[in-house]
Amino acid sequence: MVVDFSEDILETCRSLVLDEDYANQNNYVLVVHSAKGGSGKSTIALNLALQYASKGLQTVVLDLAMYGSIGAMLKMPHRGRGLAAIITLLEEDEHAIRSWKFGEHLRRAIVSHPLQGGKLDVLVAATPVKMDKLSLDSVETIIEVLKAHGYQMIIVDTSSEISARCIGALNKATKILLAVTPDMTCAWNTVQLQDIFKSIMVEREKVVLVGNRVGEGLGLKLEELGELIGIDFAAEIPEDYRLVQALANQGTPLIFRDGNAVSLALKELANFFYPIYTQQQLRGKSGSFISDFLRKRVR
Ligand SMILES: Nc1ncnc2c1ncn2[C@@H]1O[C@H](COP(=O)(O)OP(=O)(O)OP(=O)(O)O)[C@@H](O)[C@H]1O
Ligand SMILES: [Mg+2]
Repeated sequence: MVVDFSEDILETCRSLVLDEDYANQNNYVLVVHSAKGGSGKSTIALNLALQYASKGLQTVVLDLAMYGSIGAMLKMPHRGRGLAAIITLLEEDEHAIRSWKFGEHLRRAIVSHPLQGGKLDVLVAATPVKMDKLSLDSVETIIEVLKAHGYQMIIVDTSSEISARCIGALNKATKILLAVTPDMTCAWNTVQLQDIFKSIMVEREKVVLVGNRVGEGLGLKLEELGELIGIDFAAEIPEDYRLVQALANQGTPLIFRDGNAVSLALKELANFFYPIYTQQQLRGKSGSFISDFLRKRVR
């Protein structure tokens, strides 16, 4: 019997062989989560991803939020692509995810955002109704395939509810960044989240607590919140509503506007998970912003 492979199929086979080499490399899966909506998950996820990508790391954002906002934040045209395309594929054929062609479907669903020094790839979220159809298994497989595609940094944005897709991402996480705003509701929800994490067997060592929208004299002290939650805070990002909103409305990523405390905190945070800056680069023009808090407690 003569089997006629088209050039297309041969190309996919070649890329699969290549991918196996990649699968042996180190990949970092950073899941950004919080126990309360609006605590800055998407802002943090996107600004970390932009930094890694612009430093040349192969980076992808997987937007698993119910109301995914990464596509909008980057003003990305994504019609017919993103997770919507993947979910439609799985609706038509639930076994498609086990097919050797799935990697190619995933590649086609990814949208790239050009950057100086690289590009940021994104798998944008589908509509809320569609997102609800994404199973735990599918999410785990998507993350594995992204690893096999050679992404060094896989940043997962989530919603605050614990859905099946969120558990899938938590299962695959190298680290879980938990964003906490300094208010009692968020702190209390985060305490309760620790119980949920225990019941779904999320390892405590993976959890990194990050204070966001931390304002002088406003809200509760992070040390007190850390005691309440039972985990020390690794880092804090200050509150700067005017700056963050103005940049968001202009569509300018926060991280590319130098000389403000929020961007510096985000740079320190990026370096905490994966070193991309020298200490000198972190210091900025106006002296060191590196918080003693971060050095003392985490390193
Ligand atoms: N450090 C900060 N200072 C001031 N504003 C901030 C800061 N971080 C985030 N914000 C603003 O807070 C709002 C919520 O942020 P974001 O959308 O990132 O939260 P989220 O946790 O992803 O929300 P959701 O749960 O709805 O997905 C946005 O308007 C964002 O611009
Ligand atoms: Mg969000």
